[in-house]
Amino acid sequence: MIELQNGPAERVSEHGSAPALSVRGLVKRFGKADALGGVDIEVRPGQLVGLLGPNGAGKSTLTKIACGLVRPTSGKVEIFGARAGSRQACRAIGYLAELFRYPGWLTADEVLRLHQRLAGSRGGSIERGRLLERVGLNAAAGKRVGAMSKGMQQRLGVAQALVGSPRLLLLDEPTSALDPGGRRDMRTLLEELRAEGVAVLLNSHLLSEVELVCDHVVIVDRGHVVEAGRLEELARPRGVEVELASGARLFEGISRDDVPELVERLVAEGERIYGLRVRSATLEEVYLDAVAEEGE
Ligand SMILES: Nc1ncnc2c1ncn2[C@@H]1O[C@H](COP(=O)(O)OP(=O)(O)OP(=O)(O)O)[C@@H](O)[C@H]1O
Ligand SMILES: [Mg+2]
Repeated sequence: MIELQNGPAERVSEHGSAPALSVRGLVKRFGKADALGGVDIEVRPGQLVGLLGPNGAGKSTLTKIACGLVRPTSGKVEIFGARAGSRQACRAIGYLAELFRYPGWLTADEVLRLHQRLAGSRGGSIERGRLLERVGLNAAAGKRVGAMSKGMQQRLGVAQALVGSPRLLLLDEPTSALDPGGRRDMRTLLEELRAEGVAVLLNSHLLSEVELVCDHVVIVDRGHVVEAGRLEELARPRGVEVELASGARLFEGISRDDVPELVERLVAEGERIYGLRVRSATLEEVYLDAVAEEGE
């Protein structure tokens, strides 16, 4: 769970409302196989949570259950206090599926118009124009999906997810087809949404990107949460890395406070120091540790 530090009473009083997404004891079985084996996750308004895990870990299944597209075997999933799949819950969410395809003959504007009808949005052409601009497709309103590049289609998918101003965004690998500029634009967009109080659950394999934009991460492996928390908490100290004439050397188990003594000792031993860095674990290291432990 993400909010391990806070009890439920504290959570409600802090925000005055139910969490954007609350997943409790979620189990999903496909035949004899457990895709999710009892998962707890909570996302609060204004939080950007990265959902990470190896292929087949259960990330998309969890997201689809939150959307009401897949029925849970057991457990409780609520969106702002409403049961996942209920009308009230569906009204609050925006969803971008991992494998989506819009009909090739529709223009970008027509795709958004269709989704406005599906979502009951009355935003009209103003909303459509604003959304296309937000994802950098303002010049492509009349372009047909069939004539768009993969990255353009993914941008359109994100615009579609934002139709009707959802309060919870569920994005399943929204940047897999984007070029580096597109990824930076997406980060800016996600930061803006967070500032507006939107809650985001972001499925991604792009750890460096998650590290840049998410405040919390949840790592799942084979249907179980194996690590969860704020990024700063998970990025444990790794020691001090010193660049010596012989190359970089990591002094494990020491912290910033030990640096002056370390430098003194190394110089006294005749070493020449070319650089020094206090290291904490990268998200990739945290991820690989969490997933490896589970596999042992
Ligand atoms: N409709 C289905 N019928 C049977 N098994 C399914 C179904 N959907 C998913 N699964 C299984 O559930 C498990 C979790 O799949 P899921 O798609 O949630 O993984 P994921 O974490 O999203 O993986 P990826 O990173 O590859 O997208 C896998 O073992 C998958 O084969
Ligand atoms: Mg998936």
